[in-house]
Amino acid sequence: MAKLTVRDLDVAGKQVLMRVDFNVPLKDGAITNDARIAAALPTIKYLVEHGARLVLCSHLGRPANEPDPVFSLAPAAVRLGELLGKPVTFVPEAIGDKADAARAAMKDGDVILLENVRFYPGEKKNNPEFAKALLGAATIFVNDAFGSAHRAHSSTEGVTHFAEKSAMGFLIERELEYLEGKLDNPEHPFVVIMGGAKVSDKIEVLSKLMEKADTFLIGGAMANTFLAAEGYDLGASKIEGDKLDLARQILAEAKAKNVQFLLPADVRVAMKFEDGAETTCTAPFAEGGKVCEGGMAIDIGDKAIAEFAAIIKNAKTVLWNGPMGVFEMDCFAKGTKEIAEALADSSAISIVGGGDSVTAAKKFKVQDKLSFCSTGGGASLELLEGKILPGVGALTDK
Ligand code: 3PG
Repeated sequence: MAKLTVRDLDVAGKQVLMRVDFNVPLKDGAITNDARIAAALPTIKYLVEHGARLVLCSHLGRPANEPDPVFSLAPAAVRLGELLGKPVTFVPEAIGDKADAARAAMKDGDVILLENVRFYPGEKKNNPEFAKALLGAATIFVNDAFGSAHRAHSSTEGVTHFAEKSAMGFLIERELEYLEGKLDNPEHPFVVIMGGAKVSDKIEVLSKLMEKADTFLIGGAMANTFLAAEGYDLGASKIEGDKLDLARQILAEAKAKNVQFLLPADVRVAMKFEDGAETTCTAPFAEGGKVCEGGMAIDIGDKAIAEFAAIIKNAKTVLWNGPMGVFEMDCFAKGTKEIAEALADSSAISIVGGGDSVTAAKKFKVQDKLSFCSTGGGASLELLEGKILPGVGALTDK
């Protein structure tokens, strides 16, 4: 069912509560990556330009349901003010007398940011009283917190039960356009690059994507589990030993559906898991390659990189979720870097499904060459699994 967007609203002179995801990384109180604040700007600017009295709320981190200065949103208000080019008042509470007073004093086009909603036990419990107090005098709710849309909390879902209208912002609209729309009826060949640590984290998304994808390219530690399930010797590599049957089921499902499911032909091995470790590539497994005793596969090998890159080159749609190796360390970064570059060079619609793969795309400076990078980690995964995100499902139908 289509949902209202900010374009459907008349906000002039009205108080609007907007949920943003300003869950940004902080180091010694300073924001180290403001991408999530920047991502909310188009909707914030639109509402300001249309005369709303804009009350922003967000969570930051995982405080223990009580005020904790380490998780204060105060630095986010300063950064937002700089990006917006106008002052943003920070209110040191999300509900209460100070919040009421700050909200009552607003004029059309003003922006305030409330303190972290997770300082209150009601937020994660989706407590209706807290939701009602958070909505306050606002009659309209706008959700643009894609990264939190998989949470059914007071500020993402609960408030919609009390607002007259609840609409999505431009960020959520764009996330849905790419992660749902473009993948619903993808241009073929549709290639899914899947990596990360655990097969168990990705079962639902693998099954769901098998309905549409032509080819899967598997990397990361999850590839080790699949390779072990196929009977190859992975030495001391990280493997989910209790998931081998599950891995075999997925391989059988791919075969039954006639989906190409490619495991790395070879892997990059180190004897020590540390920065600067010496690495070697195994011979291809199909030619008798194996991981030496005590060795660990921590990245995909050169043959795998070449095979994967050739498939990416001919794809029309590519979805990338999960790195190929431990790219944070240079010695284990080659697979992820070269796959990211192959994606950047391809003419396919390239969609990066959030979390670590977006961090990798930024690290290898290919982000601007990709069609879309999601701002959500868990939210993008749940969307790709075909789930309705509570923060989207609760919005007003068109
Ligand atoms: C995220 O960073 O994935 C979102 O902001 C959600 O945070 P959470 O996992 O603490 O709910």
